[in-house]
Amino acid sequence: QTEISRVRNLERIQMGSHEIEPWYFSPYPAEFADCDMVYICEFCLCYFGDNTQFTRHRKKCTLLHPPGNEVYRDDTVSFFEIDGRRQRTWCRNLCLLSKLFLDHKTLYYDVDPFLFYCMTERDEHGHHLVGYFSKEKECSEGYNVACILTLPQYQRKGFGKLLIQFSYELSKIEGKLGSPEKPLSDLGLLGYRAYWQEVIVDLLIDREIEGTPMISVEELGSTLAMTTNDVLHTLQNLNMLRYSNKNHVIVLTDAAVAARDKLKEKERVKGKRMIDPERLQWKPPV
Ligand code: COA
Ligand code: NA
Repeated sequence: QTEISRVRNLERIQMGSHEIEPWYFSPYPAEFADCDMVYICEFCLCYFGDNTQFTRHRKKCTLLHPPGNEVYRDDTVSFFEIDGRRQRTWCRNLCLLSKLFLDHKTLYYDVDPFLFYCMTERDEHGHHLVGYFSKEKECSEGYNVACILTLPQYQRKGFGKLLIQFSYELSKIEGKLGSPEKPLSDLGLLGYRAYWQEVIVDLLIDREIEGTPMISVEELGSTLAMTTNDVLHTLQNLNMLRYSNKNHVIVLTDAAVAARDKLKEKERVKGKRMIDPERLQWKPPV
């Protein structure tokens, strides 16, 4: 494929009540590059270059949520688990859509090896897709996330953190340590670093309050379903790792506590979103 085909090809898309400008190339059929607007059905993710066709489709489309099992529901969001092999068209459409906002991933057509965990927000019109992550059914590298995306109209509202938390809740149930597929995008790295820092500092503060502050890197990892590597890197970034007699010693710094207090204050104002593990109805697929 030539370089030219990598240039952003869609001008604008419309999805539900949102109009969005794509960021990157996505391999939609070539003729869509000539459309001023591509209309995407927010439920079945089918795409149309013409408003009349799209309107006709909306009258017929009966889907009101992603085509899979609802494995989680709380007051704000739901998660649906979708098997790429069983819902090939829907998942390909999802990959096409998400490629508009992903620079480097190359998954578009071979969706069979993946499960897709799609997060929605409910209202009287249905379950609106907010974001998703994909996960390889059998991943030899042990990744618990392949691709992760919050649709641009929902970004910077804490949904990415929910997706990440959800992926680790699945790993906890599986009894595995997880980590996202590399390389991560710049935004992906920002999102993960924010999550990792928060859960690690929270856990350390809880332990201090309980009066059991001694904890090893391995124990942090197994409690949070994070790899030792990711725990170490996060502690290093936070400047919370010291060495004593060739052993790692974790030091909860005033700066980290202050940063967490600031975050808590921000969450108090904005409203904190969190996954409630009790509401997760899920067993590892066999
Ligand atoms: N600039 C700076 N920090 C950012 C950021 C940005 N644009 N986006 C996220 N962060 C950091 C912040 O610390 C943020 O917390 P804050 O908003 O309280 O400051 C934290 O991440 C969590 O943000 P959140 O709102 O939960 O994330 P999101 O819903 O915006 O989703 C991604 C994060 C990565 C999923 C989203 O940016 C995305 O879909 N990007 C495009 C696809 C992609 O690159 N995916 C990852 C590679 S596979
Ligand atoms: Na990890």
